[in-house]
Amino acid sequence: MKVIVANDYEEMSQKAFEIMADVVKNKPDAVLGLATGTTPLGLYGRMIKDCKANGTSYKNIKTVNLDEYAGLDGNNKNSYASFMKENLFNGLDIDLKNTHIENGSASDAEKECERYNKVLCGLKQDIQLLGLGSNGHIAFNEPGTPFGAEVHIVNLAESTIRDNSRLFDNKKDVPVSAYTMGPKNIMQAKKILVLASGANKADAVYGAVKGEISESLPASVLQLHPDCIMIVDKEAAARL
Ligand code: GLP
Repeated sequence: MKVIVANDYEEMSQKAFEIMADVVKNKPDAVLGLATGTTPLGLYGRMIKDCKANGTSYKNIKTVNLDEYAGLDGNNKNSYASFMKENLFNGLDIDLKNTHIENGSASDAEKECERYNKVLCGLKQDIQLLGLGSNGHIAFNEPGTPFGAEVHIVNLAESTIRDNSRLFDNKKDVPVSAYTMGPKNIMQAKKILVLASGANKADAVYGAVKGEISESLPASVLQLHPDCIMIVDKEAAARL
């Protein structure tokens, strides 16, 4: 794994943008694996600016998102589907038909996992963007998830519910389960770009980069990927 330590959040976002823009320019019909959370917002802002100012086109780009809260309809403002429209897709010339994410309001969870797994089998990510949970999760793969797992539904860890509650008006509204790509779906990407910012990610970054490769720290599986770049700011790199 290649690790780049940036001075701050803006520098981290800029370096990430350069890598993402390279993929989009070299392959106008690339498949981008995308993530939610506050970490990628600086990158997404730069992608929108670049599309508007320089005409970089996303017309033929396809996207697959990592995860979605179970029980939330795609139109719910707290759903990851809404997050992606609001923070990225609405600012690009992308065709929404080419954007894929789990259906949080599916009536049959097992069938939904199967459906999304098939989507992913047909859309291998040219690049997969990842954030890190403070407990070392990637997407919603909590500690203990088998590395061989594919799309599945998970009960969220207490720490994840607590971390994510800041984005909800009411803590009791935070869903307790979610659909997620499994580590196997993530590892199929040709390239993986991991971003982490802030002191509360320092333990997860340490575990992902220098820790033992173990299912108890899901991000440690990334050490096995042949082309994984992690960009972290100084605070997140504190234990490296
Ligand atoms: C959620 C998402 C993850 C994301 C993590 C970190 O749990 N499922 O994909 O990486 O939050 O979020 P943030 O970037 O807001 O710290």
